[in-house]
Amino acid sequence: MYRSKIAGIGHYVPERKVPNKELEKIMDTSDEWIVERTGINERRFGKRHEENTTILGAKAARKAIADAGIDASDIDFIVFATLSPDYFFPGCGVLLQRELGITSTEIGALDVRNQCSGFIYGLSVADQFIKTGHYKNILLVGAEMHSMGLDFTTRGRNVSVIFGDGAGAVVLQPASDVEPSEILGTYLHADGTHAEELAFISPGSHGGVHGQEVDFGFDDDMWKSIFVTQKMLDDGMLYPHMNGQLVFKTAVQKFPAVIMEALEKAGKSPEDLKILIPHQANLRISQFVQRRLGLKDEQVYSNIQKYGNTTAASIPIALSEAYQEGRIKRGDLVCLAAFGSGFTWGSALLNW
Ligand code: UT7
Repeated sequence: MYRSKIAGIGHYVPERKVPNKELEKIMDTSDEWIVERTGINERRFGKRHEENTTILGAKAARKAIADAGIDASDIDFIVFATLSPDYFFPGCGVLLQRELGITSTEIGALDVRNQCSGFIYGLSVADQFIKTGHYKNILLVGAEMHSMGLDFTTRGRNVSVIFGDGAGAVVLQPASDVEPSEILGTYLHADGTHAEELAFISPGSHGGVHGQEVDFGFDDDMWKSIFVTQKMLDDGMLYPHMNGQLVFKTAVQKFPAVIMEALEKAGKSPEDLKILIPHQANLRISQFVQRRLGLKDEQVYSNIQKYGNTTAASIPIALSEAYQEGRIKRGDLVCLAAFGSGFTWGSALLNW
């Protein structure tokens, strides 16, 4: 049985900064409200018609591949996590393969749809493939282009002020016996009870939402598609929806639990952690988790202030920045943790 390690990492965020003040001009919100409730000062939005989720992912992937000291042609499997794919199908995995120019190798490409936990789920899948010796250079990407599909009217303000665009990527390889770097464990959880409480429901094949009376304007004619109806367009139903308070309350329970699970399984405690990289959902959530686990300020990484919530991209972006800033060195104990839509949540513990 092999062990795996992160052999290369990189991230990319679009150039365009969107400060809270800019959102004040288009909806009923304020810089004060956003900073107080979320800690976000600004986010990045990609260039429409030039950038998309795959392109952001490819920019991060090229950096991770270079950091690992390999060529794109050495990649033997792709895992792509996103909730804002370029197309309904096919997923971004194959689009990334094409963008990187590695179609001739005909490697497999897997798409992960676990939203905020997508990077942790993808890491766990990649880790298993390396451990069994099946693959040797797995490219794992988390990327989002949220700005293409948010409701930028006051109706959507509780969601749209939070999200930002960006991408992060890692290359996983078998760990060597002479270096300390390795993934110690990954822990995945889900509870679909509240699936619709943080969701992008339409367009989809649901034909009516579980347990709810919602008029989507469906036509009874079974030969007409119900993916998108005129009513959905007229009533602004083609946007993400979030019950923020429920998500917040559940997140502050699940984050500490899944972090402790990872630490306990490895015989470690919070003080052993060099750094915790939580999914950047809300600065208040991270601060709550920090207090609950008794972590010092320098043990918790936050960059939500400048990027907002970049969902599947937030952990690899934060990990990449922490590495670039010299906050983590080879062998340091690092914990990654996420919670989000599904609900799904998870953690990963690694020696960097
Ligand atoms: O990464 C995926 C996981 N997502 C999360 O972890 C998000 C978790 N939830 C949250 O971060 C918070 O619930 C939010 C930041 C989304 C919202 O903060 P909140 O303190 O829970 O606010 P709320 O939803 O209870 O709304 C309070 C008030 C409401 O007005 P009334 O009814 O009290 O008059 C909202 O309409 O704030 C209003 N509001 C806003 N006001 C200004 C909601 N969004 C905004 C806004 N600007 N952008």
